[in-house]
Amino acid sequence: MDVQAAFQALKSRAPFVPELAIVLGSGLGQLAHCAEAVVGVSIPFTEIPGFPQQTVLGHAGKMIFCEIEGRKVVLQAGRFHFYEGHPMALCTAPMRMYGHLGVKAVLHTNAAGAVNWNYKVGELMLISDHINLQGTNSLIGPNVEPGPRFVDMTEAYDRDLRHQIHAAAIACDQRLQEGVYLAVTGPSFETPAEIRAFRALGADAVGMSTVPEVIVARHEGMKVVGISCLCNMAAGMLPQPLTHTEVLEAGAAAAERFEGLVRRFVRDLKL
Ligand code: HPA
Repeated sequence: MDVQAAFQALKSRAPFVPELAIVLGSGLGQLAHCAEAVVGVSIPFTEIPGFPQQTVLGHAGKMIFCEIEGRKVVLQAGRFHFYEGHPMALCTAPMRMYGHLGVKAVLHTNAAGAVNWNYKVGELMLISDHINLQGTNSLIGPNVEPGPRFVDMTEAYDRDLRHQIHAAAIACDQRLQEGVYLAVTGPSFETPAEIRAFRALGADAVGMSTVPEVIVARHEGMKVVGISCLCNMAAGMLPQPLTHTEVLEAGAAAAERFEGLVRRFVRDLKL
């Protein structure tokens, strides 16, 4: 993956340096449609050198430079997952590109399974911290200078931005959970035994993305914050199997609340 070539392609078309990048997870792409209608330079992944076609249902695959609530942002509709067989360098390439471009902060969103018994399907969870069980690390390989070889992850999810998201949730009169996101590779869903193990480890939600990107975003020195849409109760918690369709449907059902929260957060954003 030639990140430099991809970055040059992006830079040549980016109309401005966004303050914030927002990665829209499975089923949460609706925000992209609204934003695109308003303004925006839309760059399909297929027009970025080194980026393959998107394959997963619910992922459109483009970067949209636009204004939301008067703030300059880049929306990333779709992401590359490790389970698709892509190298980590591609999964995290957008983070390198935002870092090079001068983006200050990244809001990651994803669909996740609820592991915490107190959570309900459709609720949103602010990510307080993560557990990486993907069996690899997105920084393996030669260090990308000038980032540090050993990145501090003590407060990977920025405390101040988390406070701002909580404030936005209160302003929108929305319930917002906060918890630990545990990342697996997928693509199989977990077994009930794995979910019990993850709960014992301290996980509140489980998903197949985000963590590689968060690590690289931190390596790039960008602030990070993340929101999971709890699209299903994790395996074995309910007497029924899991499907990707139910994940997408729950994402769609939460889309309006999610958009309200993100808009409010962006409107009041202090970096
Ligand atoms: N497990 C892993 N990833 C997920 C889930 C899940 O239950 N739901 C949405 N993404």
